[in-house]
Amino acid sequence: MSLAIVHTRAQLGVDAPAVAVEVHLSGGLPSLSIVGLPEAAVKESRERVRSALITAGFDFPQRRITINLAPADLPKEGGRYDLAIALGILQASGQLKADGLEGYEVLGELALSGDIRPLRGVLPAAIACGQAQRVLIVPEANADEAVMTGHTRVLAVAHLLRLCEHLRGGEKLAPHQRGGALPCLPVVPDLADVRGQLQARRALEVAAAGGHNLLFSGPPGSGKSMLAARLPGLMPPLSLEESLQVAAVHSVAGLPVVAACSGQRPFRAPHHTASAVALVGGGGRPRPGEISLAHQGVLFLDELPEFPRRVLEVMREPLETGEILISRAARSTAYPARFQLVAAMNPCPCGYFDDGTSRCRCTPDQINRYQQRISGPLLDRIDLQLQVPALSPQELLTPAAPGEASARVRERVLVARERQLQRQGKANRDLSGQELDRHCALDARGRELLSRVMAQHLLSARACHRLLRVARTLADLEGVNAIAQAHLLEALIYRGKWTEQGVV
Ligand SMILES: Nc1ncnc2c1ncn2[C@@H]1O[C@H](COP(=O)(O)OP(=O)(O)OP(=O)(O)O)[C@@H](O)[C@H]1O
Ligand SMILES: [Mg+2]
Repeated sequence: MSLAIVHTRAQLGVDAPAVAVEVHLSGGLPSLSIVGLPEAAVKESRERVRSALITAGFDFPQRRITINLAPADLPKEGGRYDLAIALGILQASGQLKADGLEGYEVLGELALSGDIRPLRGVLPAAIACGQAQRVLIVPEANADEAVMTGHTRVLAVAHLLRLCEHLRGGEKLAPHQRGGALPCLPVVPDLADVRGQLQARRALEVAAAGGHNLLFSGPPGSGKSMLAARLPGLMPPLSLEESLQVAAVHSVAGLPVVAACSGQRPFRAPHHTASAVALVGGGGRPRPGEISLAHQGVLFLDELPEFPRRVLEVMREPLETGEILISRAARSTAYPARFQLVAAMNPCPCGYFDDGTSRCRCTPDQINRYQQRISGPLLDRIDLQLQVPALSPQELLTPAAPGEASARVRERVLVARERQLQRQGKANRDLSGQELDRHCALDARGRELLSRVMAQHLLSARACHRLLRVARTLADLEGVNAIAQAHLLEALIYRGKWTEQGVV
C-alpha cells in the first residue's frame, strides 16, 4: 500500500478540530513535501521525522513522499503532527502494517532520537477524541492531562519504537491511569486575619456569592490587597463543565491543569508592568492572556490606575461578552474570558486623598488626572465599588477575637450560589436582560426608587441591570425570593449613589 491515513488534531483557540494526515508514496525523484497550510514549524517536521525514523532503525523511503494535512484550509502549527507523519510514512512504505489505525488519534512531537516530546493543548484534543470514540495516543508527559477529561482510552508513549510495537500487535500498551497523589494546591490566606473592615468583608462575600466585579479604593496600608487576596477562599468550586473550560485554556497556554481539575477557580494577579499581549492575549500564534487564564475565576488588578489605559479599555468588551477575539492578519482566534474583575487603587497619587486627615498634598488637577486613568465605561462595569478606610489604632492594636473565618463565609456563599443554580442554572452575574425581568422583579416601591435614580442620570442602563443582579445576590444571601427595598439600597451604596439623606 502506498497511501496511509493517520488521524490527529489541530489546535484553534480552545478547540481541537480533526486533521487527517494523508501520506502518499509514488515513483520519481526522492523528495518530501507537506501541503495543507503548514507553517514553518510543521515544515521542519520533515527533518525531525527523517532523523527519528533513521535513528529508530527504520528506512526512510527513497521515493516521492507527499503529505497532505486535511482539511487544507485549516492553519497547522507546531510540532504536534510529527508522530502522525512518521506513522503515516511507516504505514505507507509497508514497514509498520498496523491494523485498525483508523481507530486511533495520534499527538506528539518527535525528538531526533525517536523520543516523543510533550505539547500544548492536549486537553481540548482529548475531549474531542473522546467524543469521536477513538483511542488517543499522547506523549507520556501529557497523559495525566488527557485522562483528566474522563477519556478512558488514552495510551501514553515515550518512544516511537514502543508505539510501533503496540500497533503491530506486539506487546500492548495499557490504558493510562493517573498516577500518584494530586500535587498540593497553594494555600489561600484566611479572612480571619483581617481586622475590622466590615463593609469590605461584606462586599467580598457578595462578590463571591454572585460573581460580581469589585473595586476597593483607599489609602495605602488599609488592607485592600490583603482583602482581595482572600477572595479565592470564599468562592464556590467550579462545576465539572467549568473545570474543563478552564483546564482547556490552561492547557493551550502550556500551564498545569491540575488546579482547574480539582475545582479550584483561577485567581490571576498580573503585575501592572505586564505587556498588553500578556494581559489580553495575542502574539504571532495567538496565545491566551491573563484575562483568559482567569476565565471562570478572578482577575485581580492591584494598583488599577497604574495599568496602561489602552489595556484596561480592551477589557471592556470581554467584561460584557465573556470572550476575547484576537484578530491577526491571517486569522482570528477567540478565547473565553468570563472573568470576575477585582481591583484595588489609591484615590490619588500620594494615596491619602479624603482619608479624614489633611496630609494629602495632591492638587485637584493631579487627583482628577489620576482618577481619570480609569475610564467611565470601565467603572460602569464594576458592580461593587467600595472605600476601604484606614484602620483606627484601636481596631488594629486592641487584642480581639479573630474575625470570621473564610470557611464560615464560604458556607453562606455556597448556599446563595446553590439558590442561583436551582433557580436559573447560572450565577447572578450571568443573568441576561430577559432573565432579569423574570428573576429580579421589583415591587412598586423598588421600581419607583430605581426610576428616580435613573432619572437623575446617576445610573446607565447597564449599571441599572448590574445593580439588579447585585440586589438579586443580596436577596439570595438572605435566603429570600423577593428583592426588597433594603437590597436595592445596599446595592446603591456599592455604587456610591446613596447618602444618609437618601438617593443623591
Ligand atoms: N484590616 C487589617 N487587618 C489586619 N492587618 C491589616 C489590615 N489592613 C492592613 N493590615 C496590615 O497592613 C499590611 C498592608 O496591607 P495591604 O497591602 O493590604 O494594604 P493596601 O491597602 O493594599 O495598601 P496599598 O494601597 O499601599 O497597596 C497587611 O499586610 C497587614 O499586615
Ligand atoms: Mg495594595
